[in-house]
Amino acid sequence: MEKEVLERIKPSKDDFEKINNTVEEVLEALKGFEAEVHGSFRKGTWLKGDTDVDIFVFFPKELGKEYMPNALKLIEDRLRKFNYQINYAEHPYIIIKNNGMEIDVVPALRVDSGENAVTAVDRTPFHTALINSSLTDEQKDQVRLLKRFMKGIGTYGAEIKVKGFSGYVCELLILNYGSFREVLKASSDWRPPVKILIRQPTVVFDSPLIIVDPVDPRRNAASAVSLKKLGEFSIASKFYLEKPSIDFFFPPEVNEVDIKGEVLVSEILLQENVSQDVLWGQINSSVTRIRNQLKSKGFEVIDVQAYGNDRKIIIATQISSRFPPQYYLNLGPPFYVNAKGFFKKNENVWVGDDGNLYSIKKREITPAEDVVKLSIQVKHKYSLREYWLSERPKDPCLKQFLRKTPAWLK
Ligand code: CTP
Ligand code: MG
Repeated sequence: MEKEVLERIKPSKDDFEKINNTVEEVLEALKGFEAEVHGSFRKGTWLKGDTDVDIFVFFPKELGKEYMPNALKLIEDRLRKFNYQINYAEHPYIIIKNNGMEIDVVPALRVDSGENAVTAVDRTPFHTALINSSLTDEQKDQVRLLKRFMKGIGTYGAEIKVKGFSGYVCELLILNYGSFREVLKASSDWRPPVKILIRQPTVVFDSPLIIVDPVDPRRNAASAVSLKKLGEFSIASKFYLEKPSIDFFFPPEVNEVDIKGEVLVSEILLQENVSQDVLWGQINSSVTRIRNQLKSKGFEVIDVQAYGNDRKIIIATQISSRFPPQYYLNLGPPFYVNAKGFFKKNENVWVGDDGNLYSIKKREITPAEDVVKLSIQVKHKYSLREYWLSERPKDPCLKQFLRKTPAWLK
């Protein structure tokens, strides 16, 4: 099984050469700067047909974080002949797109140790050195398997959209446990908080998964991993070890699924380019707001999830019924606290067995689609289309949304 997967994902010399030619061109254009290749391409942990190359350009640390926008301009001036775009994430960088491959060019500060990192990316050269000096070629293939597994089950990526496992975390897991199988064995027994102390930390971390960064004991390399993704990975590990299948690495298409309850689909089309981290921060808070607002308006919420990429996002909202009950039980104060006021403001008031006042209230009905629309708060130009699912959807994300059970479980 794993051998078969490796054959599909391990790049050949030829794959390397093709990408490296473009990388050399970019490095040539950056001559005079301290430009270096890092990330998985340099570490030999990248996946065939599915990689971005990371080029870091180092500036003296005395220039400080504030210099980064200037640094970016200097770099941009050299790269005008390429097809590129700028991404203003927490840290601004340039993305070059060249026949199907992506090269990220990232400004960083040159520091003398990971512990002295100023910006989020200054530790990178130390990560490269650590991984290249401590993982064997066989273990790098094990990293590749683990990354593909994570991608297949949907837990790969530290970005806000996913809140999962970064490439570096996959490398540290292999470093700590030795192999793909050993990582899975360990993770199938995980109970949060999970602590992997390759090195003793110098601060206290509060996350479901704690992997102290060996190059900087002040940092939890796995701080992005959410409880949800930790759980998804752990159960997938359990099932895989019991019954390995290619489906974990390359998920099969989900069959058509019945609609249970009522499903509202909100399609958001962005009308401008936005940073994915910024956008997904807003999408995630919108999802939380949809859940809370619907509940407070009397709806029984089954599930709300967001899917999408770049400029098209869909939010699927599943509720038990489109019509919340008309009357509800209203809890008042204890009988000895301002009872008169409560009687005055309410009809049908009584004292409960617990000594609190209660009343029956009539609900103001707001249509669920209005609640959802008002809860979506995206601070960029967008258009919104809302519709109730009336027949089984074709969209793979919506199919999976209805199915719930992971695609790898037949
Ligand atoms: N990095 C980091 N902190 C981040 C993002 C990135 O320290 N928040 C560093 C890591 O050292 C990582 C490198 O930047 O190895 C490149 O990041 P990325 O491309 O996300 O990871 P890769 O290891 O290259 O994995 P992939 O194969 O997915 O590109
Ligand atoms: Mg990379």
